[in-house]
Amino acid sequence: MKPIWALAIAIMVSTTLVAVVGAQTQAGAQKTDTTPRGAEVVAHGTSAGAVACARCHGFDGLADGSGAFPILANQNADYLSKQLRDFTDGTRLNAIMTPIAKALKDEEIGAVAQYYATVHATTVPPPARSPDLVKRGETLATTGDTGRQVLPCTGCHGQKGVGEPPVTPYLAGQYGHYIVSQMVMFNRGYRKNALMYTEAHHLTEGDYEALGAYFEGLPRPSAE
Ligand code: HEC
Ligand code: HEC
Repeated sequence: MKPIWALAIAIMVSTTLVAVVGAQTQAGAQKTDTTPRGAEVVAHGTSAGAVACARCHGFDGLADGSGAFPILANQNADYLSKQLRDFTDGTRLNAIMTPIAKALKDEEIGAVAQYYATVHATTVPPPARSPDLVKRGETLATTGDTGRQVLPCTGCHGQKGVGEPPVTPYLAGQYGHYIVSQMVMFNRGYRKNALMYTEAHHLTEGDYEALGAYFEGLPRPSAE
């Protein structure tokens, strides 16, 4: 049996760790002890050459508002890990993310995914969009289009686009510009996913714009 002082030190260390992690993340999504390593990679990158994620995605996962970089805050950890692996094996191609993902060790992928899944981030106010465009997006997102064999997005991405963990990401509150860019990626085969194939191939760029406008105006799920 361990002496009592060893036990006391162990408890002190673990409560300090919990306090440190707690300052950066919020309760809600499951936290693990990989989160501090995740925060380190996000802030400083890795010695193997992965660029600090915060430079583009922000320390809080909200990115810079341009829509060039996706919001990662409170996205499901399994989904985020899968995307990083997809960048490494070519299922998903991107000139910026492919080398960054390849520079991450397997445990670092898990750690950054966990960090962003549980980070505390404020709400981004949606930009003003044309009500007609949003309405068109809402109709397509919630009812689909049988004539074009397009299923309602909300059937997989959840009511109001809040996501269906662990496989399907949230779209609610994501940047519309990023949503459009990913539909284009699926359409051109730079990103491969069987469930998104018909959706991307049977819709037009005008439809992508309407869908992006609808989903970006909905409240993003948070860790709280
Ligand atoms: C120089 C800018 C830049 C840096 C640094 C960067 N990213 Fe990215 N990230 C991007 C861009 C651009 C995309 C969109 C790629 C695409 O269109 O497929 C992206 C996409 C992602 C995605 C996919 C999100 C989704 O919703 O599918 C994940 C996950 C991700 N990045 C994680 C990271 C992590 C973790 C790091 C740090 C180790 C990092 N990124 C560093 C620019 C960056
Ligand atoms: C049959 C289920 C299904 C339907 C229907 C569906 N999706 Fe998806 N969608 C997925 C899955 C699964 C993924 C994750 C793909 C991956 O792992 O790369 C995804 C990913 C996406 C992404 C990438 C998000 C990100 O963070 O990078 C976008 C954008 C998207 N879907 C938009 C739509 C839109 C818009 C519709 C409706 C027109 C739609 N989806 C309908 C299952 C579906």
